[in-house]
Amino acid sequence: MVTTPLLPSDYLDLVSPLRAGAELRGRIEAVHPETEDAATVVIRPGRDWRGHTAGQYVRIGVDVDGVRLWRAYSLTSPTDRQDGRITVTVKAVADGRVSGHLVHRTAPGTLVRLEQPAGDFVLPPARPAKVLFLTAGSGITPVMGMLREHAALDDVVMVHSAPRPQDVIFRAELHELAGAGRLRLTEVHTGTDGRLDLARLGDLVPDWAERETWACGPMGLLDAVERHWSEHGVRERLRTERFRPGTVVAGDGGSVTFGATGRTVEADGATPLLEVGEEAGVLMPSGCRMGICFGCVTPLKAGAVRDLRTGEITEAEPGVLIQTCVSAAAGPCEIER
Ligand SMILES: Cc1cc2nc3c(=O)[nH]c(=O)nc-3n(C[C@H](O)[C@H](O)[C@H](O)COP(=O)(O)OP(=O)(O)OC[C@H]3O[C@@H](n4cnc5c(N)ncnc54)[C@H](O)[C@@H]3O)c2cc1C
Ligand code: FES
Repeated sequence: MVTTPLLPSDYLDLVSPLRAGAELRGRIEAVHPETEDAATVVIRPGRDWRGHTAGQYVRIGVDVDGVRLWRAYSLTSPTDRQDGRITVTVKAVADGRVSGHLVHRTAPGTLVRLEQPAGDFVLPPARPAKVLFLTAGSGITPVMGMLREHAALDDVVMVHSAPRPQDVIFRAELHELAGAGRLRLTEVHTGTDGRLDLARLGDLVPDWAERETWACGPMGLLDAVERHWSEHGVRERLRTERFRPGTVVAGDGGSVTFGATGRTVEADGATPLLEVGEEAGVLMPSGCRMGICFGCVTPLKAGAVRDLRTGEITEAEPGVLIQTCVSAAAGPCEIER
C-alpha cells in the first residue's frame, strides 16, 4: 500500500536494475569504436544472464527517442570473460534506428533490456579438423566470438570481405591471430578488388569443399554461397547466419488496421506489417526482424497477409497468429495491436 500505484519491485529496479529476479537487463559500460561506422558495446548483464555459446546472438531492447526497439546482435565476447561482461559489435547501417543509436549516441550507464542468448550458428562439440569462415562486413561478428573462444582450432582459413582495409572490423586482432599461426586470412577489399567471385574460391582456398564452413554476411553473398555449395554437392558442410530476411515476395497491399490502437494506414504488399506499424507510431514487439525468433507474433483478426519469404497467404481465422516482421498486407487486414 505504501508504494501504490508502483510495486516495491519498481523501486528496487531503480536502485538495483541488474538484480536476480528482475526483468533481464544490461548496463552499457563502454562503447569502443572499431571502424568509422562500427563499435563494440560492452554490457554488464543482469544476474540472471545464463551465459552463451560462441556464435550465438542476444536480442537487445534499446530505447530510442522514447520508443523501445528490439534488435539481435551476435556476441563477440568469449564465454569465460573474467569480469562477467559481454560484448556485441554493431555496424551502423544507413538510416538504421538502433544501430546508429548504439554506435554514435549511446552513453555509458545506459540500461537496455536483454533476452537470453539464442542461435545455432555455433561450432559442434566435436571440433572439425578443417574450418572455413567466409564473412563480409558486420558478418564477422559471430565468427570473432568463435575465434576468441576456441583457441584450440588448428586449421582455420578465413576469407573476409569489406570495402577497404580500414572497414575491416577487428582487423588488428585478425592479423595478430594470423601472425600467431592460428588463422590463414585473406582479405577481399571489394572497393578495389570487386566482390568475391566464388568461381575463384578454389584459387584462394584449394580445399574449400573439404572444410566445415560457417558463412555470415549480406544476403547476396549468402544466397550465392548456398548455391555454390549445393552445386558442388557439399551443402551439408555449410552453415549460414543471416542478419536480414531472404527473398522478398511482394504482392498486393491494402489498408492495415491496428485493432487495439484503432489506427488504419495504407500499406504496400512488400513492407512488413512490423515496419508499417512502426511508421504509423504503433509499437509492436520484435526481435530478429527476419522470421526466426517469433518475438513479433500477433493475432490476425481479419483479412489476409502474405509471407514475404514464401509468398504464402494466411487468412484470418480464430486463433491464427502471424509473424509481423515477415508478413505484408494481402488486401485489407486487421491485426491485434
Ligand atoms: C541473428 C542476428 C544477428 C545479428 N548480429 C549483428 C551484429 O553482430 N552486428 C550488427 O551490426 N548487426 C547484427 N544484426 C543486424 C541487426 O539486428 C539490425 O538488423 C541492424 O543493426 C539494423 O538495425 P537498425 O535498427 O539500425 O536498422 P532499421 O532501422 O531496422 O533499418 C534501417 C534500414 O536499414 C536496412 N537494414 C536493416 N538491417 C540491415 C543490415 N543488417 N544491413 C544492411 N541494411 C540493413 C533496412 O532495410 C532499412 O532500410 C544481426 C541480426 C540478426 C537477425
Ligand atoms: S521479430 Fe523475430 S520472428 Fe519476427
